[in-house]
Amino acid sequence: MMPDWKTLFGGAAPPLVGLDISSSGVRLVELADAGKEGLRVERCAVEPLPRGAVADGNIENLDQVVDAVRRLLKKSGTRARHVALGMPPAAVITKKIVLPAGLSEEQLEVQVESEASQYIPFALDDVSLDFDVIGPMASSQDDIEVMLAAARREKIEDRVAVAEASGLKASVMDIESYAARAAVTRVAAQTPGADAGQVIALFQIGASATHVSVLIDGVTVWEREQPFGGNSLTQDIVRAYGLAFEEAEARKKAWSLQAAGQGSTQQAAADLPAGYAADVLQPFLESAALEVTRAIQFFFTSTPYTKIDRIFLAGGCAMLPGLLDIVASRTRIASAVASPFHGMVLAPGVREQQLRADGPAYLVACGLALRRFD
Ligand SMILES: Nc1ncnc2c1ncn2[C@@H]1O[C@H](COP(=O)(O)OP(=O)(O)O)[C@@H](O)[C@H]1O
Ligand SMILES: [Mg+2]
Repeated sequence: MMPDWKTLFGGAAPPLVGLDISSSGVRLVELADAGKEGLRVERCAVEPLPRGAVADGNIENLDQVVDAVRRLLKKSGTRARHVALGMPPAAVITKKIVLPAGLSEEQLEVQVESEASQYIPFALDDVSLDFDVIGPMASSQDDIEVMLAAARREKIEDRVAVAEASGLKASVMDIESYAARAAVTRVAAQTPGADAGQVIALFQIGASATHVSVLIDGVTVWEREQPFGGNSLTQDIVRAYGLAFEEAEARKKAWSLQAAGQGSTQQAAADLPAGYAADVLQPFLESAALEVTRAIQFFFTSTPYTKIDRIFLAGGCAMLPGLLDIVASRTRIASAVASPFHGMVLAPGVREQQLRADGPAYLVACGLALRRFD
């Protein structure tokens, strides 16, 4: 029943798909090694979830999530049965600890448990623990650094239950922020002028939360979650035009795609009134930019760092027309939308246009799919 939570840091047997269970929907990515050509996107699909089925990373309605995952699997056409799942960062506590070198695996486990009990605010029986030896301490060869991860057992079990009820095996349990980091680090490495030591700020703007992380050479030096997301724009549309939430959500997305030049004629019919851009969207973009600049200020005041070299935007809201421009101009930092599939070849069935329009929302799913190559 329990996944091998050890696999948080370990490898997994291929073929494996990444499955991101988010409040707005479930997303699947399958990657393959295409040899000289690098990575190939084999499958990539999304299935929306009814509102409330997943909230703040918690699975509130198991049946609805299972139904969506089943539809997603069918739609994607994948034959893989092993999945990598992500835990919401808020449900996992991670902590670096120092232990004496030379312990046996068994002694390590005992030590980790006893250290963990000091940091974890709930009973260890309710917790699933994992750890990974980082390596010897720089300052002393007699000590090793160990990364400890603890999650509420029930939160893990919920995700495993979704996988099993959908005929899948939860082979890798990761943390969403780790998966996003893996995907964005890969993208950043392909960006011209990407030097070692580059300070990257990643803003994942989702439905109800924005996850901010600052990364240097693949290491997270600071992170924070802000209660800001695309739901509030949808609510603004609801208020301004008297639409139901679902309708407002659909029109918001259709409008964005159309404005970005990706929309179909069918979507054009689901348009919003002419005043939308100035009266509703613009104020939201202003608040989004303010969230970004505030987070950056907070990063500078609470750490020794004094610069950010590059901003990446991801999550469903990254596609909002005008967001990248306002963030770049308010911060005066080189900014880009993170396209996790950048530099990958596409399998015949994968539509390039969809990846371009929707790519940033697949950052976590893509990072999870990358676990196949550990
Ligand atoms: N094309 C789009 N244009 C504007 N907003 C979008 C688009 N696609 C998704 N969104 C918004 O992004 C949010 C969901 O982003 P996502 O990263 O999937 O969030 P979460 O991880 O919180 O579920 C929703 O508010 C949704 O309306
Ligand atoms: Mg998400």
